[in-house]
Amino acid sequence: RRYDQALSIAELAEIARRRLPNFVYEYIHGGADDEVSLRNNRAVFNRYRFTPKTLTDVSQRDLGRDLLGHRVSMPVVIGPTGFNGMITQDGDSKLARAAADRGIPFTLSNASTEPLEEIAKVPGGWPWMQIYFYRDHDYVKNLVDRCRASGYDTIVVTTDSAIYGNREWDTRNYARPFVLNWRNKLHVLSRPRWMKDVLYPHGVPTFKNLGDLLPPEDSSVQGAAAEIGKHLMPSLNWEDIRWLRDNWSGNLLIKGILSVEEARMAVEYGIDGIVLSNHGGRQLDSSVSPMEILPEVRAAVGDALTILLDGGFRRGSDILKAVLLGADAVLLGRTTLYGLGAGGQAGVEHALGLLHKEMDRTLGLLGCSNLQELDRSLIRDACAPQT
Ligand code: FNR
Repeated sequence: RRYDQALSIAELAEIARRRLPNFVYEYIHGGADDEVSLRNNRAVFNRYRFTPKTLTDVSQRDLGRDLLGHRVSMPVVIGPTGFNGMITQDGDSKLARAAADRGIPFTLSNASTEPLEEIAKVPGGWPWMQIYFYRDHDYVKNLVDRCRASGYDTIVVTTDSAIYGNREWDTRNYARPFVLNWRNKLHVLSRPRWMKDVLYPHGVPTFKNLGDLLPPEDSSVQGAAAEIGKHLMPSLNWEDIRWLRDNWSGNLLIKGILSVEEARMAVEYGIDGIVLSNHGGRQLDSSVSPMEILPEVRAAVGDALTILLDGGFRRGSDILKAVLLGADAVLLGRTTLYGLGAGGQAGVEHALGLLHKEMDRTLGLLGCSNLQELDRSLIRDACAPQT
């Protein structure tokens, strides 16, 4: 089946699975350890139930809102994912162009396969840059300078990955860095379309925003995750965030916070926004799901922070549940990657179109015309004691 016949993100994922070599799909799809957080990120949506209004006029509906000084067409951001060039050739620009067409931001990962300067040129786009604290401040300063020079206004610093998570899918698939085992080689051969798309034009894609972190001969993405993981800075702490704040006057977001305490710290340190995230269940397994703590975080910080979150958003209704509980927007990780794997840029556009349609329908069924009308009275937590 073709990507444009997919009726849901789940169907797009299935099409992507059939088109990609197993080690690429498993890299996208899998999580850390026993995948408890990965599963719970999806399961948590079931505990929130709508209590809609009916007799309201919902003939005109709008999903737009203001976010960090820009107007977005829906409360959605494409989040940072590394190695997008392994899914399809120029995966980063395909995602960036699809986001620009939809009027939403695209976040380029630090572990991306296209230079940030290229992504900044996508017409009509609002690019964000995600940064890991690799190695030292000089490395980070260089990236920040490049962002400033090419017109970025938003940096997302990921703080949940000072130590690399235990992803057994990747360990198994990439037994030794840069070497694929026989099973995978056979799988590549059985995916000629992928080979032609990804491998033939320029060979195995390479990282473009790591500076001199990896020697050039080692910068191929084939199994390099663990390799660049060695350059993470396990000493990362709030003083580093203070330093980054002092060196970047644009929007600064922290991605990876999972507690009220750290959300409050973010306000103290002059951060503009946070992304509640357990990294899609790829870092600390059994960590809480962002949806579970969103209400308390919003209650604690009020309007002092823009609050985003991610993990498991696959339906428009999932996204509106987050908005009802106080989120400004959500980030997509795997959702748009499934679109990318299933149909390239058009597949990403299809994924975003599906979510837009689902959100629009859900908004109307909730009895609302726009996001400002969404409030806590329209949702209940089925696990909380009912009064
Ligand atoms: C990620 N994520 C991620 N986060 C980040 O800050 N920098 C990165 O380079 C990556 N790379 C990455 C690769 C892949 C394949 C995935 C699936 C995820 C985490 C990502 O930004 C986001 O937090 C999660 O993907 C959200 O969960 P869902 O939407 O994938 O369930």
